[in-house]
Order: sequence, then structure tokens, then C-alpha cells
Amino acid sequence: MCGIVAYIGKKQAWPILIKGLRRLEYRGYDSAGIALHHNELNVYKCKGKVSDLENFAAGKDIDGTIGMGHTRWATHGVPNDINAHPHYSGSKEMVLIHNGIIENYAPLKAEMKNRGHKFESDTDTEVLVHLIEDIQQRENVSLEEAVRLALNNVVGAYAIVVMHKNDPDTLIAARKSSPLVIGIADDEFFVASDATPIIEYTKNVVYLDDEEIAIMRRGEKLRIHTIRNQEITPYVQELQLQLEAIEKGGYDHFMLKEIWEQPRSIKDSMRGRVNAAQGIVAVGGINDYMQKFINANRILIVGCGTSWHAGLVGEYLLEDLARIPVEVEYASEFRYRNPVINESDVVIAISQSGETADTLAAIELAKSKGATIFGVCNVVGSSIARATHAGSYTHAGPEIGVASTKAFTSQVTVLTLMALMLGNRRGTISEHHYRELLTELEGIPAKVERVLKLNDQIKYIASLYKDARNCLYLGRSYTFPVALEGALKLKEISYIHAEGYPAAEMKHGPIALIDDEMPVIVIATKGASYEKVVSNIQEVKARNGKIIAVVSEGDTVVKEMADHVIEIPETDEKLVPLLSVIPLQLLAYHIAVMRGCNVDQPRNLAKSVTVE
Ligand code: G6P
Repeated sequence: MCGIVAYIGKKQAWPILIKGLRRLEYRGYDSAGIALHHNELNVYKCKGKVSDLENFAAGKDIDGTIGMGHTRWATHGVPNDINAHPHYSGSKEMVLIHNGIIENYAPLKAEMKNRGHKFESDTDTEVLVHLIEDIQQRENVSLEEAVRLALNNVVGAYAIVVMHKNDPDTLIAARKSSPLVIGIADDEFFVASDATPIIEYTKNVVYLDDEEIAIMRRGEKLRIHTIRNQEITPYVQELQLQLEAIEKGGYDHFMLKEIWEQPRSIKDSMRGRVNAAQGIVAVGGINDYMQKFINANRILIVGCGTSWHAGLVGEYLLEDLARIPVEVEYASEFRYRNPVINESDVVIAISQSGETADTLAAIELAKSKGATIFGVCNVVGSSIARATHAGSYTHAGPEIGVASTKAFTSQVTVLTLMALMLGNRRGTISEHHYRELLTELEGIPAKVERVLKLNDQIKYIASLYKDARNCLYLGRSYTFPVALEGALKLKEISYIHAEGYPAAEMKHGPIALIDDEMPVIVIATKGASYEKVVSNIQEVKARNGKIIAVVSEGDTVVKEMADHVIEIPETDEKLVPLLSVIPLQLLAYHIAVMRGCNVDQPRNLAKSVTVE
């Protein structure tokens, strides 16, 4: 969480920083700040969004060709003007921005307080900038060396940028467990949490690795060394990202754009990997580890949030098609519960951003026990993509809306391909069914197009239920994870309390909540559990619950019982999650818009959770 951007070069820094912060705002948006060097250090920061910062700085001195900006997602200290970054050192001659958590900030703070340091904020970040200055003064070393020594004293995660009043020609950046990318142009450098603030200025980027410090000086080449003082030769890569991919393109919200992109993004997840006519599935990343997968004792899937939901679909698919035992775990639970893992386990780590702290930690734990780690990530070059032994990118393209949509369907698509590939290699799926599923999968993008045409109907349903206080989502088998995902979408962006449940489990608790004010969204598409779900619908109806049912086209049975039916094209039940989640994404979207919520930046959330 928290977005970082910095610039040093010939241009005015302010517009670059503001634009960069807008692009990074998905990472956190409770306060924002910018520091510029123009004869002196000018810091402007305030609670609120980047637009509030612009208003705050209007009419003030925003000149300067070196500077840094930050958009915050609070961890230590409430969102307010004082806790906003950048933070000053004690002498106010140094400023620093930070993404991550300094875990040992309390003892460091206490120690420095004893030596007379005075702190203004409640943040861990202020402790770090004080520490750097403290070391610089006590040891009489350069700023670069002081940063290095200070980072040797901190425990935790950081991406930082530092600038000093007495050195208007230098920016110093460093990272550990929080992403940082450096853009290199003609005598100018850009630093950012991801490549989006850099893309229109340069395609040449360097991704910093953990415990690396970058020194950017005017007129000099980029220098990198580790916090143990080992020189690193920068590895300059070419950015593949396109500008259009990170803009709204005429849609009211990124979320809506991303929902609408799904026919394309699902296709992109399959591109070059499926040929139904020839009966071929080839997920590149698996090949080198095929024997590990085929002989795996079990597969463990780890992830958080929506990625965890995709993992649940993956479990059903892999067990069903490849007959390998699968367990799915929240990464945050897995990492702290002393799990049994060994060398014959394969761990699939799923993450859109590739930066989620808990998922990264789960990977490190499993790796240390000798398991093979396979990543399913969206962001190319992300920390998780680099920490895994092998993997497959989902190729969904940048996802900016905080509530994940196209990332989910792309993750499920990749997991489907993996399950089909492994099932075929292990001989656990008949050739006929394999080919049938491949053909059906190739046709999914066109069916998603048809589901999107239901938008007006779904918007109308949203208008009827926008004031609900609670919602229940029910599904069974392959649609149970979809029920969880639908409920998550609604609560994330509309703040209506919503629960996802296995339909049969409803009678063990949630049924007590049902009355004539309770909307119950049931996924009742054709499949092995269809009749069972119909019985569950009866149970809701008998208690006067309002039923919104997602059914297969042509269904007449549920139509008789439900208050509303949303008919989606029929498909094999293993592929139903790819279609049935879309009406639920749209329902949550329209309800949130009608309730006046900030759909792309819901309160308290952030897109990329780089703290545990
Ligand atoms: C945050 C986001 C969710 C996302 C989860 C996991 O909570 O708001 O949309 O599902 O993190 O993120 P990841 O990038 O690892 O998929």
C-alpha cells in the first residue's frame, strides 16, 4: 500500500509527481503529499485525495526539478495532515517518503527520544528519517552511507525515497519487500511503486531488488548497491505497458471498464496456450516442472481476497480433472500456523498485483521447506513473479479498480488451463471430455459478451435493492466460490453487509436472517447440484426472502420461484464461474454507484496490500 513517485531531471517535477500520484492512488488514498527542492525544501501534504493536495498547494511555490510524492494508506497513525508523507528529519533538512512498515520503530523511537529527538507524527516513517539523520550526524558520513547504515538497523518492509536540502542534485531510493521501479531517460530519473507514472516518459526501467539502494545524481549514471555495500550492475529492461491500458477510455469508472474488458482479457489469458481443434493446451511455465506437478503429493493454493476465491475454483478444477489432492489457504493463515509442507508439495501462489505481503511470506515459508512454487500473477516482473520457481502470467492487463474483476476471471482461466493440461497428462480425464472442455473454453469470451448485454436488466435489479442492509449469496460446488466473490464485491464497494455461503450450509445459520427484506442471490445454473440448489431456493422462499437467481438460459423451474432471474448462456459447469461472476460484478457496481460510493477507491481499502 501507499504509492511512491519521485523525479530528478530537467523538467518541472510538480506536474510529473501529481500525475504519477493520480495513477498510484489505487494503492492508498487517505492522504497525499509532495516535497520539492527549490532553494529550500518545500513540503505540501494533507489528509484526503490527490485533488485535495492540489487545492492545498494552489498559489504556493511549486517550482523545482527534483521532488517526491506519496499517497498514503494508513498503518501507523490515523490519516491526517501530520501523519501524511513526506516526513522531515529533526533538522528539517531531509525528507523521506515510505511504503511499508518499520516493525522495530518503537525501540528505535524510544532510543532517539532519549537522545533528544522530537517527533511530530505517529508514523514509523518519521522514525526512519530521524534515524538516517542521526547516523549521518553521529558517524559523520555521506547521506548515501547514512541511508545504508540506517537500513541495516531496521526490521520490516520499505520502499523509500530520500532527498536532502544541501544536495539538490541527488535522490536516493531503496527497497525491501515493497516494490520500486526506476525509469531512466536522458539525464533524468523517475522512481515509482509501479511503472504507471513513468510510462509516458521512458520505456527503460530497472526494477530494484530487495535490500538494494539506488543513487540517482544529475549528470551521472544510475548506481545501485546493496545495504551490505555490494555494487550491482543495473539491469535495464524495456517496459511493455501501453498508456491506453491505464486510462479510463470513456468509461465512468475503471471497474466498469475492467468488467467490460473481460471478453478480451479472458482471451488474452488463453492466447497461445489453447488450440481446441488440435486438442492442445500448453501453459508454458508448467513444462519445466511437469514432473513435479504430475507426481505432486498434493497442491497447496495460497492467496488473499479475490485471488483466494479463484484458488477455490482452482481446487475444484484440479481435483476434478487432474485428481491431485488440493488444499486452498489464506496466505495470512498459512504463514503463521506451522503447516506441514515438504518437497513433494507444489504450491500455487495466486496474486493479481504480485506484491501482497502475506502471499509473499507464504511463498518464502513453503520455499524454505523445499516445495516447488508456481505463481499465477498478473503484474509482470512483480515480487511474487520473481520469488516463485515458475509461473504463468494471467495477462489480464493493468487492473486499477480496487475491487478485482477481470483479474479473477483471468486467474480462473489460467487455473482451468492448468487443470486441463495436468488432467490430460495424468490420464485422469477422457480425451472426449478434454476436447469438449477445450472447445467450450475457447467459446467463453463470446458468451461473456452475451452476459454483458444483460447490463440494463441488472441495473434495474440494482435499483430495487440498493437500500438493502444485508445480502446473502448462495452457490454450490463450482459456484460456491462465485457466491463468496459476489458477496465480497458488494461489501467492498457498496458497504452493504454481504455473506457468501454454500447453499446447503445456509440452514445451519444464515437462514435465521432471512425475512422479506433480505435479498438472496443464488447461482442456480445447470449442473450436478442444480436440483439441490432448487430445494435451497424453496427454503428461502418459504421464509419470504427475495430471490435474485442467476440461471442457465431457458430455465423455467427457478423462474417460477425467483423474484428475478438473470439468464446466462449455458456452459459446462466447470466453466460456469467465468460467466456467473459477471452479473454479480455488475450488480455490485450499479448498487455502489446508486448509493453514491466511490467505486474505484472504496473506503479503507487498497489495491495492493504490501503490509501484513
Ligand atoms: C486487496 C485487494 C483485493 C485483492 C487482494 C489480494 O485486498 O483489494 O482486490 O483480491 O488484495 O491481492 P492480490 O494482488 O494478491 O491478488
